[in-house]
Amino acid sequence: MKIKNICCIGAGYVGGPTMAVIALKNPDIKVTIVDINEARIAAWNDTDLSKLPIYEPGLAEIVEKTRGKNLFFSTDVNAAITESEMIFISVNTPTKTYGKGKGMAADLKYVELCARNIAEIATTDKIVVEKSTLPVRTAQAIKSILHNTGNDINFEILSNPEFLAEGTAIDDLLNPDRVLIGGDSEKAIDCLAHVYSSWVAEDKILKTNVWSSELSKLTANAFLAQRVSSINAISELCEHTEANVNEVAKAIGMDSRIGPKFLKASVGFGGSCFQKDILNLVYIARSYNLNEVANYWEQVIIMNDYQKRRFSDQIVRTLYNTVSGKKIGILGWAFKKDTNDTRESAAIYVTDQLLNEQANISVYDPKVSEAKIQTDLNNLNTRPAIENQENVSYNDSAYDALKDTHAVAILTEWDEFKTYDWEKIYAQMKKPAFIFDGRNLLDKSKMNKIGFEYYSIGQ
Ligand code: UDX
Ligand code: ADP
Repeated sequence: MKIKNICCIGAGYVGGPTMAVIALKNPDIKVTIVDINEARIAAWNDTDLSKLPIYEPGLAEIVEKTRGKNLFFSTDVNAAITESEMIFISVNTPTKTYGKGKGMAADLKYVELCARNIAEIATTDKIVVEKSTLPVRTAQAIKSILHNTGNDINFEILSNPEFLAEGTAIDDLLNPDRVLIGGDSEKAIDCLAHVYSSWVAEDKILKTNVWSSELSKLTANAFLAQRVSSINAISELCEHTEANVNEVAKAIGMDSRIGPKFLKASVGFGGSCFQKDILNLVYIARSYNLNEVANYWEQVIIMNDYQKRRFSDQIVRTLYNTVSGKKIGILGWAFKKDTNDTRESAAIYVTDQLLNEQANISVYDPKVSEAKIQTDLNNLNTRPAIENQENVSYNDSAYDALKDTHAVAILTEWDEFKTYDWEKIYAQMKKPAFIFDGRNLLDKSKMNKIGFEYYSIGQ
């Protein structure tokens, strides 16, 4: 089957950038991204490229080149399903917030709705590609829904997990370490491999069975998150000894068996994937009664929660055991630099704990809006929304946000924070002025020289 039309259901952080790159590299394929969220589609279609719903370096340039040529954004899900030979499901799969598996299992209701939608609308054969991160054996569920439509349409289901990291999505998509395609049908796998072969070398396209592909995605994220929790565990030990976690990370990272990546101690990992995927892995292991396996991976999350709590505890302890009525500046709300995504960001949890201690919070982030910050806090349901509104302010200027603060907490590693005039910030803060650097971004000796009381992770 020659693929001429691709439809992607879900115009989010995965669907948007992935389809933009597929369209860029396959000018003869028409790619339509659909979403039920009208505001999101309108933002993707905005002539002002700074209004795209997702901030990702390099993305706007690709959208500018392809949009209206072979890349389209639409809310007409049914029309896009009808005309395409290949459909990517790229909808959100959050952790379940109700019922069985609450707080652990992935909520597959959006995926299921997509499968039902495809089953209802399709009149020709389709290749359906799972792009969202899904628990192992989801393909089976999709297959069962699609194969029970009662018509003679042939559906092939493939698993094609996305390994892009936010903030570097475009580069990751253009130069992937590997592309993984899992499926039963060699023909369908080859069709999808052909789409990628426009820019990815053949030997980087791995073909596996569906279950291996699904499990590989969860495993990759679990291993990466485990490295962060491992170095964070060592960071606390460093703080109690004379060791420096940056030096330890460098020393172990030069061992080629360990490697240098994902060894940066931090206030804790965030993002839409790590926690969700590990919880999923734990849930699946428990469902097979593999308790040792489940407990082993769960510890990665426990360590991460501890790291976030430990950070806010340190702020309170250092500020003479109370932050009540004190103004604390938060630099960075996104879960990492170069993205406007805040899902599971450490900033949310650190701020929530400081609010429990009755602090006044003043936030600045170069890409996150005030409304998003309020929504993130309200979603925790810790206190009435009005209290979050009263005690958390936002400022478009970092200098103004930090004026009159007792302490600054750096929670995202935005490059611009390094270039600030820290002497000016110091002059405008209450004394003694504290910095809690949750990303080990600034130079300790420079900050001490200015006069700051500087605390960082693991040094
Ligand atoms: C991750 C995976 O890397 C990606 O392959 C997958 O497709 C989706 O999940 P993402 O969550 O976008 O990507 O970002 P990532 O770069 O992995 O960072 C995750 C979190 O870990 C961030 O909060 C980051 O700040 C933190 N982190 C990462 C550290 O604290 N230290 C590190 O050394 C690396
Ligand atoms: P991810 O990070 O996995 O891309 P996002 O939440 O950024 O997740 O994006 C998922 C998108 O999928 C959202 O914009 C949401 O509106 C969309 N979506 C969810 N269910 C459906 C559906 N049944 N049909 C169309 N779009 C959907």
